[in-house]
Amino acid sequence: MAQASSYHDVYKAWKTDPDGFWLEQAKAIDWFEAPTRAFDAGMGVYGRWFPDGVGNTCHNAVDRHIAAGRGDQDAIIYDSPVTGAKARYSYSGLLKEVEALSAVLRDKGVEKGDRVLIYMPMIPEAVFAMLAVARLGAIHSVVFGGFAAHELTTRIDDCAPKLIISASCGVEPSRVVPYKPLLDHAIDLAKSKPSACIVVQRENLVCDLVDGRDIDYEKAVAAHKAAGTKIACTPVKATDPLYILYTSGTTGSPKGVVRDTGGHMVALNWTMGAIYGVEPGEVYWAASDVGWVVGHSYIVYGPLLRGCTTILFEGKPVGTPDAGTFWRVIEEYGVVALFTAPTAFRAIKKDDPDGRLIGKYDIKSLRTLFLAGERADPDTIIWAQEHLDVPVIDHWWQTETGWTIAGNPVGLGMLPVKIGSPTVAMPGYDIRVLDDSGHEAPDGTLGNIVVKLPLAPGNLPTLWNADDRFRSAYLRDFPGYYKTADAGIRDADGYIFVMSRTDDIINVAGHRLSTGGMEEVIAGHRDVAECAVIGISDPMKGQMPLGLIVLKSGVTRPHAEIEKEVVQLVRDEIGPVAAFKTALVVTRLPKTRSGKILRGTMQKIADGEAWKMPATIDDPAIIEEITDAFAARDIIKEGN
Ligand code: COA
Ligand code: AMP
Repeated sequence: MAQASSYHDVYKAWKTDPDGFWLEQAKAIDWFEAPTRAFDAGMGVYGRWFPDGVGNTCHNAVDRHIAAGRGDQDAIIYDSPVTGAKARYSYSGLLKEVEALSAVLRDKGVEKGDRVLIYMPMIPEAVFAMLAVARLGAIHSVVFGGFAAHELTTRIDDCAPKLIISASCGVEPSRVVPYKPLLDHAIDLAKSKPSACIVVQRENLVCDLVDGRDIDYEKAVAAHKAAGTKIACTPVKATDPLYILYTSGTTGSPKGVVRDTGGHMVALNWTMGAIYGVEPGEVYWAASDVGWVVGHSYIVYGPLLRGCTTILFEGKPVGTPDAGTFWRVIEEYGVVALFTAPTAFRAIKKDDPDGRLIGKYDIKSLRTLFLAGERADPDTIIWAQEHLDVPVIDHWWQTETGWTIAGNPVGLGMLPVKIGSPTVAMPGYDIRVLDDSGHEAPDGTLGNIVVKLPLAPGNLPTLWNADDRFRSAYLRDFPGYYKTADAGIRDADGYIFVMSRTDDIINVAGHRLSTGGMEEVIAGHRDVAECAVIGISDPMKGQMPLGLIVLKSGVTRPHAEIEKEVVQLVRDEIGPVAAFKTALVVTRLPKTRSGKILRGTMQKIADGEAWKMPATIDDPAIIEEITDAFAARDIIKEGN
């Protein structure tokens, strides 16, 4: 029997009086000036939350808990099976680290509103950096370590950071990844040059520092630590940005999702109780990376705003050293809630199908497993439920929203699970499913999932320096609504089923990637006349990119050689995280009579799904050629 849930009452309370609902939640936050108004519809692109509030996120994530007596409690537990390192930072210890780094940043001239780019692996200094920037009222932009120099350059040029904080290397299970050459190359390519780079020297690979520009992190903070330098939290408006996080758009130029200060604090703090059911002092673990939105919201800000202990895990679900590593961490630190992507569980299930390693550890502290980042396939959910013996909660959200759009609110009392659905709309979100002409689709019918404006607190108010791109990407197609670019269904009970993207975004191992971005890179190869990248299904990573390339006439080099170069090009330009492993030379690409490449049809053929010859196809013979080319390379899956 499901426990009685207050969800319906809470959702109704929000819908009846959204402003009252969020002003009430805002009381859980410390403000320099508490907001008296929840929402100003006249500000910004579609309105702004808490227009007259003034606060500081670092204060709420750190100082507030020390004042409340949590100074000695662990704030961060760092566990790195790839290096063997482990460390604990109490809230008081965290404050010392953050103040020392804030002091270094201040000495370097970082002020309120300045951007600081953070390009770091999963080490505690990455969290210190985010909080130190927030403390000064500056704006951080974290770039995931699996991106290569070109992606870094795009972000540097878009947000023009005054300073960059980085590290000498990342550590992947199979190799040490030198960050410094990537960073130096990115800065060389960038039009906007930072005035300084603060670099953490890791034992695994010490790097050269550029004279006059680079600063050794440890040496720089040492003096301030010794002196006990105090840095007060800078008051910022609730509507001021806390961070910019770039995410894949439909072109190679990523979108700078802006997160504001006030709405983010209020919403995230509320989610920790209502959605995750976690109390202050408990240990919460999001096994993701600080470079992704899950890392921002649930490795760093959510748990710290709530006064929890957060785990910073520098490892993988398998291979570091084995598929039991998650259970070891849960046992060692008493984790109550684990949040990860379904792909992590698919990897574990593959290595340990019977869950034998689970039995080696005492994981009774674990109450709930949360999954997000990609569609959770029923097999994975059922496997996890059976082997962990805890509720498995799928929830759906995006970099843009920063927290759950649809979920099953454990803290309010769980609703019955329907496998395949992330459950229902959370307070803050009025979800509708519309047909392509903007009319509401009947229950049970596939359509465009949209959210009625305004968006919830903590969702993006706009894109960095790009209000028009924000309007055209999200608000133009369905006036009055935010387009999620996910297609799905709502059933008669209000349960949402998220099926697929409506744009060219693919989801590889829970990482969001743009096929358009990959096409732009491949088109730059000297022998390529045109190309298409499609996402084909993969049992482990959900989807994998497949590149189809048509060569310029007169190119006689062996196809295998060119395909290898194209794979390397994507790795060099976008990064290993693109997981672009297969390029295939084809004679022609199938197109409509108006010249649109039929990517959807090719994807269905590769995935072994039923497909129909599009009525608008220019030359049906090309489909046959493509099918033969796929078959020759063993790309076609068994019929689904
Ligand atoms: N720095 C440098 N390189 C990185 C990196 C980083 N931070 N993260 C990943 N890479 C590299 C990997 O080493 C791999 O390189 P390779 O092609 O040389 O093998 C490549 O990028 C692809 O990485 P990934 O897709 O993550 O594959 P993987 O085989 O290393 O790991 C999983 C597969 C399933 C174990 C892993 O994707 C995982 O743990 N996913 C969890 C999901 C997650 O964190 N999602 C984020 C949102 S919740
Ligand atoms: P990101 O911005 O990287 O978090 O990716 C967001 C996208 O991932 C969404 O638009 C969905 O396409 C997909 N996604 C995230 N969570 C889920 C989920 N629980 N179910 C289905 N798709 C999801």
